[in-house]
Amino acid sequence: MGDTTDTTMQQGPDDGWWPVPLTTAITTQPVEVMVDGRAWVLFRPTDGAPIAAVEARCPHRLANLGHGTVVDGTLQCPYHGWRYDSRGTCTLIPSNGVDQAVPASARAVAAWGVRELDGNVWLAPVEPGAPQLGPDLRGEANALTNLDPSLEFGWHPVALAHEIPETGAYAARLLGRDYDIVRSGDGYAASGSPHSITERFGTVWIAARAPVRELMEDADDANPVFAQGWLVPDVAGSPAGVLAENFLDVAHFPFVHVGTFGAAEEPVVPRYEVEIHPDGGGLSSVQEQWFDNPEDPGVIAGIRPARQRRRATYTYRWPFQLSLRLEELDAGAVKTILFFLQPQDLRSTRIYTKMLLHNIGGVPTPGPDVIANEVAFEVAVLGEDLVLQRGMTVPGLPLTLEDELHVRSDRSGVALRRVLDGHRTETSGP
Ligand code: FES
Ligand SMILES: [Fe+2]
Repeated sequence: MGDTTDTTMQQGPDDGWWPVPLTTAITTQPVEVMVDGRAWVLFRPTDGAPIAAVEARCPHRLANLGHGTVVDGTLQCPYHGWRYDSRGTCTLIPSNGVDQAVPASARAVAAWGVRELDGNVWLAPVEPGAPQLGPDLRGEANALTNLDPSLEFGWHPVALAHEIPETGAYAARLLGRDYDIVRSGDGYAASGSPHSITERFGTVWIAARAPVRELMEDADDANPVFAQGWLVPDVAGSPAGVLAENFLDVAHFPFVHVGTFGAAEEPVVPRYEVEIHPDGGGLSSVQEQWFDNPEDPGVIAGIRPARQRRRATYTYRWPFQLSLRLEELDAGAVKTILFFLQPQDLRSTRIYTKMLLHNIGGVPTPGPDVIANEVAFEVAVLGEDLVLQRGMTVPGLPLTLEDELHVRSDRSGVALRRVLDGHRTETSGP
């Protein structure tokens, strides 16, 4: 992870060159600096090469290039591995494959000049005398934040059912407001006059105003043959929309999940279909891949080959209810991950993850050891996602498509933006 040096308070010189006070020498390890109100990343493409300076936000999904790494003389984004040369030109989009030409629009802004003089570094964002770049407003003007008014009309998780005490209240935060939740008869009641409160998936849900979509359902959750496990809810500083997109995204696996399952993942994302539900309230996407399954008892017994097919079915329901159903088509194992997001405050989202497991290792309803292993693995996977998320600075999910650069692998993310934008329109009536 790169260091950050802040020169925000510093006035630039008249000749267009800004001094960059650094606490560390510039090497092939990227360093993030603020110059003239913009974040830049300084790095040497190779040992001893001249310093390069490119803007710190990747044009793809605005991830922080300051958290990237130098690979083969280029700066590699930590999210999906796009690579940029010292002039900011993207040289590789891994999800498209090495054979596909990189679009000309895939560029990070490069500083006009970088100078090293007597051990000091100077940066000219633009040619001296040219108009300044001004602040970077991508993702600012039309982002779906955690306090977007449309979210008032949706169901949101506020607690695991067992977190609500038998006596007394549980304090929940939702959409910037406090709710004290108590048990009441067979159900729940909450202060703050929400329109509705209910329980599903072992979770308590609140709709602040009359919900325009029903809560999602999941057949695996209702099927007693599936074993169930919960992750302890986590809180992230990212907006829920950005976390929802991350859940639907597959192109980041080889780069974000190198410590868990990502190293074996193929960077190229084949074309896949995304269906927006007829009611406009969500989307589904089915993707099939080949994978190696050496732990399958059928493989160990010599009944099946280790190379097998896997189907991943993603389902999203507005506003932040998601599921991923992973089926090992040859071995018959099914793992379903339910992922619910609670937009608490502008930069605070509580994450609920429930696992539903069937036929893992050939056991129809897996026991506690298998559940514990699967939950621990999922905790590690989510931890990798949250490390990446800490570098994201957008206030919400950008809904203006031109603020980012979409490629083939982003079809789910684009559809997600359409659904969220559609609900803004639907709920903004008089
Ligand atoms: S490659 Fe940088 S955000 Fe996707
Ligand atoms: Fe991930």
